[in-house]
Amino acid sequence: MITATASLAARTVFRIGYGALQLERLHDRRGEAVALLRRAIELGVDHVDTAQFYGFGFANDVLREVLHPEDGVLVVTKVGADPNPGGDLPLRLAQRPEQLRASVEDNLRGLGLDRLAVVNLRRLDSGPGLRPEGDQVVDLDDQLAVMTALRDEGKIGAIGLSGITLDVLRRALPAGIVCVQNAYGLVSRGDEEVLRLCETEGIAWVPFFPLGGAIPGLPQVTDEPAVLAVAESLGVTPAQVGLAWLLHHAPNVLLIPGTANAVHLEANMAVSEITFDAATLATLGAIESRSNEVPIG
Ligand SMILES: NC(=O)c1ccc[n+]([C@@H]2O[C@H](COP(=O)([O-])OP(=O)(O)OC[C@H]3O[C@@H](n4cnc5c(N)ncnc54)[C@H](OP(=O)(O)O)[C@@H]3O)[C@@H](O)[C@H]2O)c1
Repeated sequence: MITATASLAARTVFRIGYGALQLERLHDRRGEAVALLRRAIELGVDHVDTAQFYGFGFANDVLREVLHPEDGVLVVTKVGADPNPGGDLPLRLAQRPEQLRASVEDNLRGLGLDRLAVVNLRRLDSGPGLRPEGDQVVDLDDQLAVMTALRDEGKIGAIGLSGITLDVLRRALPAGIVCVQNAYGLVSRGDEEVLRLCETEGIAWVPFFPLGGAIPGLPQVTDEPAVLAVAESLGVTPAQVGLAWLLHHAPNVLLIPGTANAVHLEANMAVSEITFDAATLATLGAIESRSNEVPIG
């Protein structure tokens, strides 16, 4: 039996949260975005992942409208990139210490808060997407210095990391890390060692692209024949199999699947009810892991 809750930043949260990236697809349908987020909270979401660069501030703006302190929702945001309206890509890297500080201020304004509960330092040492170049290559210690200063000042409550290697996690541990977001899922399990170090250290593992993301070229859980077969035999959807496998895989895994679809949202929230027998877990565990180190943009 899997447990329903896990620890994140000294809070106990439901293991199925919501990733707000896909809200940007509802940019021109704000009412739908608001209704979707409200529905997520009704269904029990108490942990939402966001960024100021999701929809050029749109996701944070919707969170600001919907969430109230009495809801007790833990909002986790990130720094290391800024919105890039009019650019080739919707975001640009912002890794330098003064840029991290400015991005915290942007998130505070965007979310209408005076303190951010958890902020992930999005490093991009590993995983899909851009790699820092030139003045965007910044020493980890310089970044952690500003993150811990922001924590001391009370502007952020806790520090997480994203897109990191095992070595970077080891080096960052003394700063007090509460969560790690790397791209990881049933069909891309390359970061197993990072996950296991997080488990040993009591750090939440909050994978992004748990289904393979919405960007073409990444391995998709829903394309995997073994997943389709298990889904059919259990009467659930392939996406639900991928998410439920993550919950079974380690107790420190928290889910933040992204969706702009209310039916998918309900399906994702229901995966805590799915159990696998040992044979099914062995079948899923035998799926070949494929690289997600895909350039984006
Ligand atoms: N730290 C970082 O650098 C970083 C990077 C990327 C993302 N993130 C965070 O991680 C979260 C998750 O990543 P993601 O949203 O990119 O990818 P994801 O959760 O792996 O996949 C999202 C895609 O799956 C679809 N989907 C979701 N639920 C489904 C279901 N039940 N059945 C079928 N399809 C389903 C969505 O389409 P529909 O809208 O049609 O459901 C969307 O196309 C993001 O929302 C974001 O908060 C963090």
